[in-house]
Amino acid sequence: MKRVASGVLPVIAVERKISKPLHRQIYDSYRAAIANGSLRPGQRIPSTRVLASEIGVSRFPVLNAYAQLLAEGYLESRVGAGTVVTSSLPEQLTTSAPAREKDAPAGCGPRPVARRCSDLRSEAFPWTMNYGAFRVGQVAFDQFPMQIWSKLVARHCRNTDRELAHYGRLMGSEPLRQAIANYLKTARSVRCEAEQVLIVNGSQQAIDISARLLLNPGSRVWIEEPGYRLARDVFALNGCEPIPIPVDTEGLDVTAGIKRCRKAQAAFVTPSHQFPLGVTMSASRRMQLVEWAQHAGAWIIEDDYDSEYRYESLPIASLQGLDSNSRVIYVGTFSKVLFPSLRLGYMVIPPDLVDQFWRMRRVMDLGQPTFYQEVIADFISEGHFARHIRRMRVLYGELRRELVDALGKSFKDTLQVVGDEAGMHLTVLLQDGHRDEGIAERAIRQNLSIWPLSSCYLDKARQGFVLGFGGTTVKGIPGAVRKLRGLIEVR
Ligand SMILES: Cc1ncc(COP(=O)(O)O)c(C=O)c1O
Repeated sequence: MKRVASGVLPVIAVERKISKPLHRQIYDSYRAAIANGSLRPGQRIPSTRVLASEIGVSRFPVLNAYAQLLAEGYLESRVGAGTVVTSSLPEQLTTSAPAREKDAPAGCGPRPVARRCSDLRSEAFPWTMNYGAFRVGQVAFDQFPMQIWSKLVARHCRNTDRELAHYGRLMGSEPLRQAIANYLKTARSVRCEAEQVLIVNGSQQAIDISARLLLNPGSRVWIEEPGYRLARDVFALNGCEPIPIPVDTEGLDVTAGIKRCRKAQAAFVTPSHQFPLGVTMSASRRMQLVEWAQHAGAWIIEDDYDSEYRYESLPIASLQGLDSNSRVIYVGTFSKVLFPSLRLGYMVIPPDLVDQFWRMRRVMDLGQPTFYQEVIADFISEGHFARHIRRMRVLYGELRRELVDALGKSFKDTLQVVGDEAGMHLTVLLQDGHRDEGIAERAIRQNLSIWPLSSCYLDKARQGFVLGFGGTTVKGIPGAVRKLRGLIEVR
C-alpha cells in the first residue's frame, strides 16, 4: 500500500479541565491556524490517528473536529495525499500576519525598528540574478569529478559513528584542518600548522569574524579601490569605516594609503589576483604593506580566493608567508576550486589569537556542519583535489584564451582587457562615454550576466565589466562576445 507521509503538526492546545468539548477545541485551533496563515492552502495536515496520539486524546474528538472542518470547507480530502487545507480559501481568511499588524489596536506602542544598514544596497544586483554567460564566480560544474565525489559522500553516509551526528569541533574537523595546513604550506607558502586553521562557511564569514574580533565600531579599514564590494559591506555592517585606496599596476598603492589614513586599523587586500582588476601585488608593495602594518599596529586581511589558477607563471606565494609578526589573517575558500554552494572556506589565524577565535565561534554558530568537511578532507588527502585543480587550470586557461581572442576580434582596440593572467574572470575597460550599469541591465535580456566595473568603486568609478569565464564553454564564447558587441556602441 502506498504510504503517505504525515503532515506537519500545528500547535493544537487542548485543555481537559475547561468545559469546552475536546472536539470543539481541536476545531477552533485548526480554524485559527488556517485564518492566521500558520497553515497554508494545500498544506497536508496529520492523520486523525497521528494527531490523537500526539495530543494524547482518543480518536473520536479528532474525527468529529475533522468532519466539521471538512463539512465547512476548511479542509479537503485528496486521494493519495490524505487531508489538506483547502486550496481555494477566500483571501481575507488567510491574510498574512504582517499585513494585519498594520492595523494594531489603539494604545499599542510603535513597532521597534531594525538596526539601520544604510550603506548596504537594498536590492540585489540584477546581473547576479541569472546564470547567463560571463556570470562571475561560476565554475565548470559539468567537469567536476562527480562520481568520485558521490563515492566519498556515500562512504560518509554509511558512517554510523555517533560523533559524526553530534556537534562538531568549533575550529572545524581535524582531518580537514590538517589537509588544508599541508596544502597551504606547500602550495601557497603560508606559515601555518593545523591548529591555526579555522573552518568557516566561506571567505565572507572569515572577513566577518575578523572584523568582529579584531576591529571596533569606527575602526578605519583600507579597502582596495576598485574592490570586492561584499568585503566592504561586511566591514560597514560591523560599524567600521572603509577607506578606499587606489589600485595601480602593482596592486594597492600603499604610499597613497599612508597619505590618506596612516593610522588605519586594518587593510583588506587580494594580493595574488586583485579583484576586480586582476593585478598581482608586486614584491616591493607587499613588503611596504607588511612594514606599514607593523608600524601602524594594523591587521592585514589577505583574501586569497582564486590564486590556484595562474596561466602565465607559477602561483605567487602568499603575503602571509612574508609576515614574521603575525599581522596577517589569511583567508581561503573552496568556492572557486570546488563549488560555491558548499559554503566552505578557511582562515589561518596567528597562534596567539586561536583561543579568541575559538571563543567567538562558540557564540556565533557552534561550528560548521561536519559532513562535507569530512568529504573534502578525503577528497584532498586521496589526491582528487590536486588532480581537479590541474584539470581545471588547463580548461580555464583555454576558456580565457578563447575569450581574449574573441574580444580582440570583435572590439579590436576599442576595449582594453586587464587581469587575465589568473583566476576565472577578466576585466574589460570601456571607452569614455559608456554607462556600464545600463548595458549590464540590457544584457540580461540577451542572457548575458556581466558585472559592471563601476559597482566595485566607492568614489570615482571607471566603466567596464568583470567577465567570468568559468561557467562558459569554448564553443559558446564567440556567440556570447558577439552579443556583447551588439550592446556596446563603439565610437
Ligand atoms: C574577491 C573575492 N573573495 C572571495 C570570494 C568567495 O567568497 P566565498 O568564499 O564567501 O564564496 C569571491 C567570490 O566571487 C571573490 O570575488
